[in-house]
Amino acid sequence: MKQGMVYSGMSIRVISALLITVGLLYFSLPVRSLADQSDGIVEESCGEENVNGKKVLIAYDSKHGSTALVARQIADVLCICGYQVDISRARKVEDVTLYDAVVAGSPIYWAKFLPGTQLFLKNHEQTLATMPVALFALSTYADEETGLVRDEVKGFFVDKELEKVPGINPLGEIGLFGGTFTLRTLFPVEAFSMKLENYSDSNYLNEEVVITWAQNLCILFE
Ligand SMILES: Cc1cc2nc3c(=O)[nH]c(=O)nc-3n(C[C@H](O)[C@H](O)[C@H](O)COP(=O)(O)O)c2cc1C
Repeated sequence: MKQGMVYSGMSIRVISALLITVGLLYFSLPVRSLADQSDGIVEESCGEENVNGKKVLIAYDSKHGSTALVARQIADVLCICGYQVDISRARKVEDVTLYDAVVAGSPIYWAKFLPGTQLFLKNHEQTLATMPVALFALSTYADEETGLVRDEVKGFFVDKELEKVPGINPLGEIGLFGGTFTLRTLFPVEAFSMKLENYSDSNYLNEEVVITWAQNLCILFE
């Protein structure tokens, strides 16, 4: 009887240890995937050879890397046009006065910009009000046939963000770019909520749209 109790006590300990191990493995997955994805988050510069070129900052926030990719595509175009460009996570930017122009961007998450971009716009509003600023957003609210982001995204989401920073008056058209997500790579809470809403994997990334918009910026920032 006593022996049996010891055995059953041991097996409870073994089962608990197994459960804890499985739990730890499970919860470490998002942490690992965050680290993997942050590899795709760019913090870099281009156009150093454009010694007389104006300096442009691209400040963005991103959770899963697609906005970082778009930021890099915009930077490539601006550097070819002769600008010197720094790309930075919006929350890391301290001084926008180092630049002649700023491009700010965010994906839309649950109808809002990500906090990094929101805070960047709010904290630097006074300075940004005095300089050329362009704005872009990523969204998967797109037309199934054309794959292009629906115009309503501006009214639904972007204009609401701009109302919070009335000093900022973006140059030209807001860049509305198709985004992407894969349920498998989302954090568990995100994936759960997206499944609840019946959303499935989406990919509306379109480099041509981004390049065309950035080429127009080359002229606007002159
Ligand atoms: C949890 C979640 C919520 C989202 N909410 C919206 C939304 O409210 N409106 C929208 O147009 N797109 C929404 N999207 C699409 C994202 O804007 C798109 O996937 C974007 O490319 C993600 O950017 P990131 O890879 O830089 O994080 C959502 C995506 C996810 C994963």
